Amino acid sequence: MTVAERSAAAAGTAPARALLAVEHLTKRFETPDGSLLAIDDVSLDVREGEFVGVIGPSGCGKSTLFNIIGGLIEDYDGRITVNGETVSGSHRAIGMVFQEESTFPWRTTIENVAFPLEAAGMAKTERLDRARDLVKLVGLDGFENRYPAELSGGMRQRTALARTLAFAPKILLMDEPFASLDEQTRLLLGDKLLQIQAALKQTTLLITHNIAEAVQLSDRVLVMSYRPGRIKRAVDIDLPRPRTSEIIGSEQFGRYVATIWADLREEASKGLSESEAAVAHRPARGH
Ligand SMILES: Nc1ncnc2c1ncn2[C@@H]1O[C@H](COP(=O)(O)OP(=O)(O)O)[C@@H](O)[C@H]1O
Ligand SMILES: [Mg+2]
Repeated sequence: MTVAERSAAAAGTAPARALLAVEHLTKRFETPDGSLLAIDDVSLDVREGEFVGVIGPSGCGKSTLFNIIGGLIEDYDGRITVNGETVSGSHRAIGMVFQEESTFPWRTTIENVAFPLEAAGMAKTERLDRARDLVKLVGLDGFENRYPAELSGGMRQRTALARTLAFAPKILLMDEPFASLDEQTRLLLGDKLLQIQAALKQTTLLITHNIAEAVQLSDRVLVMSYRPGRIKRAVDIDLPRPRTSEIIGSEQFGRYVATIWADLREEASKGLSESEAAVAHRPARGH
């Protein structure tokens, strides 16, 4: 019995099994300026069906954390388990969506979404049917035969999301998927994600530096500290579901945003003063 199970048993509640567990994760990068502690002893559990937002200032180690969970970085201390089994390297249980454009420009929407199914050897009719369902789920029906260049940035991100969902990952990792989009588009995409979440109950970890986005979407928000990256606080978001972006106007929503900002402000200020110091030490240009 783990500590969590014992304390849950003691409290008379059934333990919620962790689908994903990150245990004592530490990551150092060796740089020309010395060793940089990017992640310092981070542990976290994600339950099946849970939507967890990870928020923190730029440079605090969010992408490093995700790249380790997703298997893109293999050299670290600690352990990652899915359903209790240690995983390493890229793993079919975990699907990733990134900020950068990742659709194939030479494939149409439907061909992009069907790609992982094709790679997995699924028959054509079956994979196109499945891809069509996902295209519909992300709200791109009518655009099946368009190429990425004919779509908006938000539509391309939805194509990338549908493609990742196509191989039915147990855990979806999204690293600032909306960061390059304008505010209105990201709010509306947030609505779309809420609908997808309601339909699929997809276990998701979302990195964002946008507090409203984190609160709108998450069951729990983890606030990371600035260098070394640690989990500073976990905030349970006890807002009713189904949700839409309308919830942003509520008083309770405002209180969550204020609580998280109070934590984040200190970390963001550390990041800001460090980057200002770096600019001050850079040799002046010209003359
Ligand atoms: N491959 C790398 N080599 C050296 N330093 C890195 C590397 N990747 C990230 N870092 C450093 O680790 C820290 C965390 O980076 P990152 O995880 O990208 O932060 P975030 O996603 O929160 O902005 C930063 O200081 C960054 O410069
Ligand atoms: Mg990042």
